[in-house]
Amino acid sequence: MIKTIEKPVILTLNPDEIDEINGFLEKLAERYKKADEDQFIRNASIYAHLLPERVKFFLNEFRLSEDKSACVIRGYPIDNNEIGLTPSHWKESSVVKSTVKQEILFVLYSSIIGDIFGWSTEQDGKLIQDILPIKGDEKKQLNSASEELICWHTEDSFQTYAPEFLGLFCLKNFEKAATTFASINSIEINDKHKKILFEKRFIIKPDNAHQIQNNTIVNDFSTPKAIKTSVLFGSKDAPYLRIDPYFMDRTQETSDEKEALDHLIEEFNKVIVDVVLQPGDAFFVDNFRAIHGRKPFYAKYNGDDRWLKRVRIARDLRKSRSQRNSENDRIIK
Ligand SMILES: [Fe+2]
Repeated sequence: MIKTIEKPVILTLNPDEIDEINGFLEKLAERYKKADEDQFIRNASIYAHLLPERVKFFLNEFRLSEDKSACVIRGYPIDNNEIGLTPSHWKESSVVKSTVKQEILFVLYSSIIGDIFGWSTEQDGKLIQDILPIKGDEKKQLNSASEELICWHTEDSFQTYAPEFLGLFCLKNFEKAATTFASINSIEINDKHKKILFEKRFIIKPDNAHQIQNNTIVNDFSTPKAIKTSVLFGSKDAPYLRIDPYFMDRTQETSDEKEALDHLIEEFNKVIVDVVLQPGDAFFVDNFRAIHGRKPFYAKYNGDDRWLKRVRIARDLRKSRSQRNSENDRIIK
């Protein structure tokens, strides 16, 4: 039996709220030249109090409610001339200063939900990452691809400290490429399958973004390893999720493991929906309760290709302390 198909909840900013945001954003962008500057990140949860009240309540409700697995804050205007051309590679965006305001706003939204963090093994350890098409990657199973369907998954499923929430901020999407989304709230899992999926029987391999060949600087990290894990965890009545079928090693599954996982995959396939992000949209997904992916599109490499910013958000940064250099270091090794 299919339950109601959950779609992201949307809050659209009104003109007064946009003015309110612009009122402090200019000042913050003047003071902090980069949104990933340590001092700004450290104070972001305080600056987040400057956001309009309706936005703060909306994001706080999203943070606490497990009946809503994705939300969008819509309506912040993006001036395409002001942000400039989509860079041809994520490594170039560290020198692009034209999106500081948008990145600051994105970090403030995120800071109502939790603390942002990144991985040393991805995009050279950048905290606020760029999702844009890279020439030559078109057909890869990688966020810099375009013509390839990005198969649905929970973010960083193979990582011990997978983020509770994932954030995307849309700068450009002329292609109207659809992000895909489905919540575990929309599906039914029977007790037999649930029991198996709650056991640590499934192997998830690192996805391509964390491989050394997809970083550009020589780093001291070692290539991440596959993990043996349960697909479901937490409450039996409202389980959390860790799943990435494309990167799961399914060669050693028993027939009952295969049946349970196949069933879960089929259920998600029935309820997955498209979310076409618009410029200015901040899209947040509960990464413990929902899966996401992306439909194919054609990149033109003309400076106006799809361009998103991405952050990972932890509810409790302390749990990854052993893997970070200092208490305020936001990069997990
Ligand atoms: Fe993803």
